[in-house]
Amino acid sequence: MQILVLHGPNLNLLGQRETSIYGTLTLAEIDRLLQEDGKNLGVAVTCRQSNHEGELIDHIHSSVGKYAGIVINAGAYTHTSIALRDAIAGVNLPTVEVHLSNIHKREEFRHHSCIAPVCIGQICGFGADSYRLGLQALVNYLRRAAGLPLQ
Ligand code: DQA
Repeated sequence: MQILVLHGPNLNLLGQRETSIYGTLTLAEIDRLLQEDGKNLGVAVTCRQSNHEGELIDHIHSSVGKYAGIVINAGAYTHTSIALRDAIAGVNLPTVEVHLSNIHKREEFRHHSCIAPVCIGQICGFGADSYRLGLQALVNYLRRAAGLPLQ
C-alpha cells in the first residue's frame, strides 16, 4: 500500500520558520519520521512539497491508481483554496488533513478549512505528531475499509 504525504506552501522553510509556532524540525526530518512510521505500519510513504497551488493539484490528480490515500498539510491554501478542495473531492481518495499548529487557536482567518469537508478528518496542534497521527489514522481507515486487521 502506498501513501502520499503532501506539504503545501512555506513548509519547505520548517526548522527556520516561526519556530515558536511550527517547531524546529525540518521538513526533511519530518519526512524521515513518516517514512520510518510507514515501514512500521507496512506502507510505503512518498512525500512531496510545493509552494504552488496548481502543482499540488497535479500531485493530487496523479495519485489516482498509485496511492491508496493522502495525508495533506495544505498550509495557507487550507484557508483559501476551493480548487484544492475540488481536486481532493474529484479524485475521491481517502485524505487526512493535518496541521502542525492548532489552527483553531490562532487568528480567525485560520479557523476555516476549505478542504475539511472533503477529508476523512483533521488533526492539528501536535507539531510533527499531527502528521504521524494522521498517517496512522489513514492506514487504520484503509485497512478497516479493506477488511484487514489493524497493525
Ligand atoms: C499550517 C497552518 C496554516 O494556517 C499556515 O498557513 C501554515 C501551516 C500548520 O501546519 O500549522 O502554513 O498548515
